[in-house]
Amino acid sequence: MIKPHGSDTLNPLYVEDDAKRAELIKEAAGLPSIVISSAAAGNAVMLGSGYFNPLTGYMNKADAMAVAKDMHMADGFFWPTPVLNMVEDASAIKDAKRIALLDPNVEGNPVIAIQDVEAIEEYTDDEMKAMTESIFRTLDMDHPGVNAFNTVGKTGIAGPIQVLNYSYFDKEFPETFRTAVQIRDEIGKLGWETVVAFQTRNPMHRAHEGLTKMAMEAVNADGAVIHMLLGKLKKGDIPADVRDAAIRKMVELYFKPNTCMITGYGFDMLYAGPKEAVLHAVFRQNMGCTHLIVGRDHAGVGDYYGGFDAQTIFDDITKDDLLIDIYRGDHTAYSKKLGKVIMMGSVTDHTKDDWVFLSGTKVREMLAAGEDLPPEFARPEVAKILMGYYQSEAAK
Ligand code: ADX
Repeated sequence: MIKPHGSDTLNPLYVEDDAKRAELIKEAAGLPSIVISSAAAGNAVMLGSGYFNPLTGYMNKADAMAVAKDMHMADGFFWPTPVLNMVEDASAIKDAKRIALLDPNVEGNPVIAIQDVEAIEEYTDDEMKAMTESIFRTLDMDHPGVNAFNTVGKTGIAGPIQVLNYSYFDKEFPETFRTAVQIRDEIGKLGWETVVAFQTRNPMHRAHEGLTKMAMEAVNADGAVIHMLLGKLKKGDIPADVRDAAIRKMVELYFKPNTCMITGYGFDMLYAGPKEAVLHAVFRQNMGCTHLIVGRDHAGVGDYYGGFDAQTIFDDITKDDLLIDIYRGDHTAYSKKLGKVIMMGSVTDHTKDDWVFLSGTKVREMLAAGEDLPPEFARPEVAKILMGYYQSEAAK
């Protein structure tokens, strides 16, 4: 089985032992505390779940700046994007060596982790700019990721953490939220050797389904792990519970039984395109997958990235840095001529009218108006679930 990133076994930061965890929760009640950002809470969940193996906590400035610049930490270890705990105001925890981190996404702000404070560092405007530009390739505050990254404060709290829960993810998505440890174990139990991961923040339409099946066939996979983001999205993206239901239906009806695991992870979308694709690859390796599918405009938003930038970024990444392989998917769509979903680059005799295309806006408009989506674009059972959602939204 593929090794985790940077170690032989996974070292998740969630405190598994019940007694130890109870003791830490008790200790946390007496520690100086701070409500952290949603992004920092997502980092805690990812660190707790083993996805961010082998990191032991939040990065300091030297590591964060180095990672943003060229995807290596100060000591040369490969990591794609800074893992930070940024706050507006650290005065409440000034001089504290050990602090309780409070979850902004759960009512009452319960403690999510305990952190040993190694450094509290101010980032200058220039440093924030440099990191933003390297991670997102833009400084435009209309970019949802740039906006989120630059509105949580410029004071970084660095140091290792012990994670005490998985925020709201395991409670809201008990059937779907899984840790890297659980997925790795399950893959081991199933005896799968070659495993394709499919990242998604959307319901799966015919193109997504086709891409996953093409990848499985191309690498002769034993199975696929559909791995959906369960955290925060930008306005207009479909909420995780609706997407989850749609994907489950699609897999049940259109995939061979026992070839597909449907799972999710607790992290907010960065919309960092290429850099996020590399982060995706790291944590899919940690959960035991040998391949990650990267298609068109992976983790992109608007027109900030070229359609295949999230693939070419892997050209310069060697096996010394990352073991997982990337399955590169060309723009995929239903061909009316051939009566099936294919990669567009695989044929030369098609004109625009030979393909079934629908923009995201068109899809939303049709569903809100109660119009069926073409079956070549979306499976009818999937479209029905989405229509229920859009109509209930329209009625609000
Ligand atoms: S993402 O932000 O999670 O990447 P999305 O759920 O839309 O967004 O995409 C999931 C994966 O499918 C990504 O690898 C993306 O590049 C790929 N993808 C989506 N639609 C297409 C398409 N029509 N052709 C090729 N790849 C696609």
